Amino acid sequence: GKKRDSGAANLSFAEIPHALDDRHHLPVGYNADLLLRWGDPLVPGATPFDPRALTPREQERRFGYNNDFIAFMPLDPGAGPGEGERHCKSRNSTRGLLCVNHEYTQPHLMFSGYNDEHSATRGVSAQHVAVEQAACGHSVVEIAKTDNGWRPVLDSPYNRRITLNTGMEIVGPAAGDRRLCTGADSSGKRVLGTVGNCAGGKTPWGTVLIAEEGFGGAFQGDPDAVADPVEARNHHAFGISPHNRNWGEYDRRFDISVESNEPNRFGWMVEYDPYDPSSRPRKLTGLGRFQHEGFTLVCKPGAPVVAYGGDDDEHQFVYRFVSNGIYRPGDHTQNRQLLTEGTLYAARFDADGSGRWLPLLFGQGPLTPENGFRNQADVLIDTRRAAALLGATPMDRPEDVETNPVNDCTYVMLTKNKKRKHGDIDAANPRPRNVAGHVLEIVPPGKKGRRDHSSNRFKWNTFLLGGNPNAEDPNERGAYGQQSPGAISTHGWFANPDNVAFDPKGNMWIATDGCERFGFHDGLWAMATEGEMRAAPKHFFGCPRGAEVCGPEFPDDGGYVSTTTLQVFSTSSAINRGVR
Ligand code: FEO
Ligand code: CA
Ligand code: CA
Ligand code: CA
Repeated sequence: GKKRDSGAANLSFAEIPHALDDRHHLPVGYNADLLLRWGDPLVPGATPFDPRALTPREQERRFGYNNDFIAFMPLDPGAGPGEGERHCKSRNSTRGLLCVNHEYTQPHLMFSGYNDEHSATRGVSAQHVAVEQAACGHSVVEIAKTDNGWRPVLDSPYNRRITLNTGMEIVGPAAGDRRLCTGADSSGKRVLGTVGNCAGGKTPWGTVLIAEEGFGGAFQGDPDAVADPVEARNHHAFGISPHNRNWGEYDRRFDISVESNEPNRFGWMVEYDPYDPSSRPRKLTGLGRFQHEGFTLVCKPGAPVVAYGGDDDEHQFVYRFVSNGIYRPGDHTQNRQLLTEGTLYAARFDADGSGRWLPLLFGQGPLTPENGFRNQADVLIDTRRAAALLGATPMDRPEDVETNPVNDCTYVMLTKNKKRKHGDIDAANPRPRNVAGHVLEIVPPGKKGRRDHSSNRFKWNTFLLGGNPNAEDPNERGAYGQQSPGAISTHGWFANPDNVAFDPKGNMWIATDGCERFGFHDGLWAMATEGEMRAAPKHFFGCPRGAEVCGPEFPDDGGYVSTTTLQVFSTSSAINRGVR
């Protein structure tokens, strides 16, 4: 296409129309290829996949169920396992590690004859639960570019599954606190596994971050029957109830009447090293405990690392972490400690377009024993309550929060909020019963490329409002940058932004979750963030009916246009019920 401004220079693809059917949709000249499916082996010599014969042990050697976040980590042809530093420098675009979250399982689609009633007598078995626990979590799969496109490398030493039974360490300020101790772990520093793995992030020191989002659904029991009122309130906040999945009947640590502290060991960000298949993942308590969507990093040499993330629930908050230590490129040993010590902040968006980052520090402001906080561990375990007391702004379900590497501004995806009432709209959440979602732009002080992400002040503005720009109901009407309603194409609008990524030119790519309510498939929309075409989306990809697209990924080898087919994954599920 004709170059209109630098920001839109790469968006020359022929836009696809809104549609809703059982196929993938891509612009002319692009194609979608199937790379991995649930049950595909990650080791050589496996038997063909037969879900009816699936054992937990077999599932641990196979690709997991339902995808969300993916990261592409390059492999240096001359380096081996454990040499993350050398791999990180590689710009190899023909071989790499695909690191994929498996957010949740859907047993009624996994097991023949499974009955979804919450009863031990109706089709649920200990074997089903154990297979599900092995099917969620994360996969690391080496992939290589062949004459037939990208293919998994089954004899790779890097291939690995992380499941609900993978040994992990708990690190950071809350590690070892009594609220993290259980009958199986009196240290409060060792936990088995991860669940509800939604989005995540990557670090320049060769690790991957995976979020624990909807973990409450794994736990069963009545919070009101828990003796400690602090824990009862905490368990309610994450949707733990007697009506949840009955994993607790087969694996007692998921029954809060047996292990009231076990849920406190979930709801964290997890960091692990895909280049070292024997490494133990670490839960980073310094980044707080809530329904983590993900955390993405801003790393500038000689400055603290700044990480941004959201708590994906109605009226929850946007967060930022600032490390105590300084980022030094190449010093991987030192850099790997950066996310363990630092300060967590929650965002307040003021009506005048300014904002404040409010520190979550024990002893400061309302975070005192009078309000039920014993120490910093309490502040981090009950992050939501601490942020609310500080006066952070309750948001319309914060999903991805990510910084554009070109203009150095940070973007917040707010997917929707059916609980937003007329009486509690505010400048940053301006629509009652927000059905279509919106995107905010955070502008830290300073010039492009040198903005100070560690400053406690920022400016913000509404980047776009999701929805049809011609909708009759003003509360559902979309608004896109400088474009008048007629200037955006018929298919350029979308709703329910979920994941976001930036290509090397600084164009924003948004993945949606919920467009079927508006009559078309979820997918990807791309747009400039600067210039004449700022916030004017163009439709690039549509996924099959019932599927959900996860965040796109652009390896920084410059070849992102030709490798886009590799990085866009959708779940294989036909039904996506009540899970985010
Ligand atoms: Fe798993 Fe916030 O979506
Ligand atoms: Ca999400
Ligand atoms: Ca999603
Ligand atoms: Ca979502």
